[in-house]
Amino acid sequence: MKALILSGGKGTRLRPLTFTTAKQLIPVANKPILGYVLDQTSQAGIEDTAIIIAHETGEYVKDYVKDGSAWRIRVTYIPQEPLGLAHAVKTAKNFLKDEPFVMCLGDNLLGEGIKKLVEKFKKEKLDALILLKEVENPTAFGVAVLDDKGNVVKLIEKPKQPPSNLALVGVYIFSPRIHDAIDKIKPSWRNELEITDAIQELINMGCKVKSEILKSWWLDTGKKDDILTANSIVLDEYVKNEIHGSLDKKSKVTGRVKIDIGTVVINSIIRGPVVIGKNSHIENSFIGPYTSIGDDTKIIDSSIEHCVILNNAEVREIERLEDSLIGKEVKVSKNHNSHKALRLMIGDYSEIEV
Ligand code: DAU
Repeated sequence: MKALILSGGKGTRLRPLTFTTAKQLIPVANKPILGYVLDQTSQAGIEDTAIIIAHETGEYVKDYVKDGSAWRIRVTYIPQEPLGLAHAVKTAKNFLKDEPFVMCLGDNLLGEGIKKLVEKFKKEKLDALILLKEVENPTAFGVAVLDDKGNVVKLIEKPKQPPSNLALVGVYIFSPRIHDAIDKIKPSWRNELEITDAIQELINMGCKVKSEILKSWWLDTGKKDDILTANSIVLDEYVKNEIHGSLDKKSKVTGRVKIDIGTVVINSIIRGPVVIGKNSHIENSFIGPYTSIGDDTKIIDSSIEHCVILNNAEVREIERLEDSLIGKEVKVSKNHNSHKALRLMIGDYSEIEV
């Protein structure tokens, strides 16, 4: 069994952050989303892994994953134009050869591992095993219809009138027959070769296609609020009390808080779940629940809650910062001029709520 991780695409909904990184590298609880995906494939015992990368952001992905030894896997990088999920499979054909493979979307997070799924696929000798989850907004996803016995009978990508509320979660396992199915499909209305259409083609070809309903949470981290939600859930589940930095006597930490080495906390309150990276400086501030703060940041005279703050950012004299995603090297500070005005220097595609 091989693994194909999709870490290409455009990431337009997360601009401007995706001008300087890949969307799959945006950290959740201070760890890139792609890192969690690789944890899952390696925990399922898959060593031979290819990562699909985009020309614009591929170098960032390579810089993070390197040769894959941190996950004890072998990594092959495959550049691709973002012409669809099935197009990514087509592009990886030389790597995949005639072997079955797990395909994971590099920006999707699941609350449980995929080992059992791999076992079921092998045991039942399937051609495709897909993971589904009930959602409230099925029009935003690929949607599956099941018969009484739980067999997949129909699949549609982003239907205007969804025939069910079962969305395709970004984990798929395929036999090599998927390549024959992909050869038969045409680009969709959004000009992409859709993996959903290829799986429908497998059904039409009489292949064995089954599904599992995911019991845990699942998050597609395509937009700012999805990242904040993912951050809250992961902090809730995984953060333990680990204080490696230094706190002065006037500071107080409650709940589960992880503070990395070299970080200094002065006269501040930190209420978990919170993670703070290395060599950061927190002074005269309140850091509220569900906040992740990266390395080398400065938070001074401010109050922050339910935020993701990336490396080297600086927040000064901000009374209340909430529900925000702050990029690398960003500076947010109070304006001391007598007349009230906003003074901004912000990147293209930024979003500001005043
Ligand atoms: O999140 C689950 C959904 O993912 C499924 O329900 C849909 O059926 C499936 O088509 C997909 O829909 P999205 O429109 O959300 O896919 P997105 O374009 O966000 O791409 C998913 C990941 O794959 C993302 O990490 C980028 C990467 N990608 C995407 C394309 C189109 C590639 O590597 N190459 C590509 O050509």
